[in-house]
Amino acid sequence: MAIKPLKTLCRLLQAISNLPRIEPSQRLRGYYYGQLLANCGKNFRVGVGARIRNPALVSVGSNCYLGEDAHLYPWNEKIVIGNNVLIAAGAKIISRNHAFEKLGLPISSQGYNNQPIIIDDDVWIGFNVVILAGVTIGRGSIIGANAVVTKNIEPYSIMGGVPARLIRKRNE
Ligand SMILES: CC(C)(COP(=O)(O)OP(=O)(O)OC[C@H]1O[C@@H](n2cnc3c(N)ncnc32)[C@H](O)[C@@H]1OP(=O)(O)O)[C@@H](O)C(=O)NCCC(=O)NCCS
Repeated sequence: MAIKPLKTLCRLLQAISNLPRIEPSQRLRGYYYGQLLANCGKNFRVGVGARIRNPALVSVGSNCYLGEDAHLYPWNEKIVIGNNVLIAAGAKIISRNHAFEKLGLPISSQGYNNQPIIIDDDVWIGFNVVILAGVTIGRGSIIGANAVVTKNIEPYSIMGGVPARLIRKRNE
């Protein structure tokens, strides 16, 4: 008999826990980051837990979405994101690499090889994708879940795997 109120309470708690995911809060977070980014177009939406490090090094076009727990990590080099780009939950985009050429020196003392990352218009980046420094992703491409992108990607490519390889072109 006490189970029904408990179930209702659980449903209520579940509904509340989903609240940060609804549009207004995504827009609020998008607005917040919009004030800090180098450039930000209209309608930027940011999911709960998403993080943008050094936002002054990030440009985002219009109608872009940064999913829950996705991270943008530019260090010294920019991350430039075009229009209508979807970045799914958990994706990580990082423009920094440690230098490691010298064997006699700790990696931590060798400085960095930072390179910019460019993501062109209408790209969909899947769940948990990692995009590494120096990569340009061509317009209209899709990066499948869990891929690690280490090289430039031609426009309208569907990529997957570690390292990311061409699955097919979108028009094939
Ligand atoms: C890549 C993706 C878009 C599917 O593309 P698709 O062209 O329809 O691919 P298919 O399902 O026809 O699979 C084609 C081949 O790619 C492989 N493949 C599909 N997704 C893959 C992925 N993420 N990583 C590696 N390989 C993948 C399939 O196993 C298949 O291989 P096979 O030819 O050896 O059998 C989809 O699999 C994907 O990863 N979507 C992302 C989902 C996501 O992150 N959602 C977040 C919500 S925003």
